[in-house]
Amino acid sequence: MFDKFILKHGFTKDPKKLYEYIVKGLTIGPFFQVIVTDDDYIECVKESAGILISLRKITKENIDEVLALKVDEDQRSFVSCNGDSLAQAYVYPETAFPFAVYEDSTVVGFIMMGYYEAKKYYTLWKFMIDSRYQNKGYGRKALELGIQYLRERFDISEIYTGVIPGNIKAKKLYESIGFKGTGLVESGMEEMRLILT
Ligand SMILES: CC(C)(COP(=O)(O)OP(=O)(O)OC[C@H]1O[C@@H](n2cnc3c(N)ncnc32)[C@H](O)[C@@H]1OP(=O)(O)O)[C@@H](O)C(=O)NCCC(=O)NCCS
Repeated sequence: MFDKFILKHGFTKDPKKLYEYIVKGLTIGPFFQVIVTDDDYIECVKESAGILISLRKITKENIDEVLALKVDEDQRSFVSCNGDSLAQAYVYPETAFPFAVYEDSTVVGFIMMGYYEAKKYYTLWKFMIDSRYQNKGYGRKALELGIQYLRERFDISEIYTGVIPGNIKAKKLYESIGFKGTGLVESGMEEMRLILT
């Protein structure tokens, strides 16, 4: 359970400063969430475990770090490289929502939510955490933020994604968040759906 704070545009976009402000300015306990609702979308979740994950727009300041992110050799077939994903985002600017995943001030991954016009549904389109930063809980937090991003902006009741059958780790993560297989396999991907309550 998180406490939520909406901060107006122009306040500050630095998650560290937001954190300091909230911790100093308000007594809220160990769990909190910060949402900055403007075009430079930033959202932060801090938990007592000490993880501070935010999704930030991809800009000239962070694009090189995003492009340098890599997964292990045996995971490469599970997800496009981030350069390819960003090329798609460039072509579908209205329906692709790409973000750098930060842990504190370090870029650790990439997530792209989207709207799939052909099927008329919202998706988790691309998702990766660099191999150096996997298994620390960052993927789960980033995915929760990606889902929240869609929920807060669009009137949606479900989110879809596709997983390559051998990708046990991603599948387990998605299942633990509530995604279930629909039974459809298309282009070598198992379709999964999260029904939002
Ligand atoms: C899938 C991915 C994004 C997960 O990121 P991550 O930061 O390592 O994930 P987390 O540390 O948050 O772990 C989340 C969950 O994954 C599952 N998981 C982790 N390691 C696992 C393993 N070895 N086997 C099975 N499930 C595993 C668990 O359900 C875990 O939840 P927990 O909190 O109960 O332990 C990351 O592994 C990745 O980038 N993989 C390569 C690219 C990819 O497959 N992208 C998804 C395309 S569909």
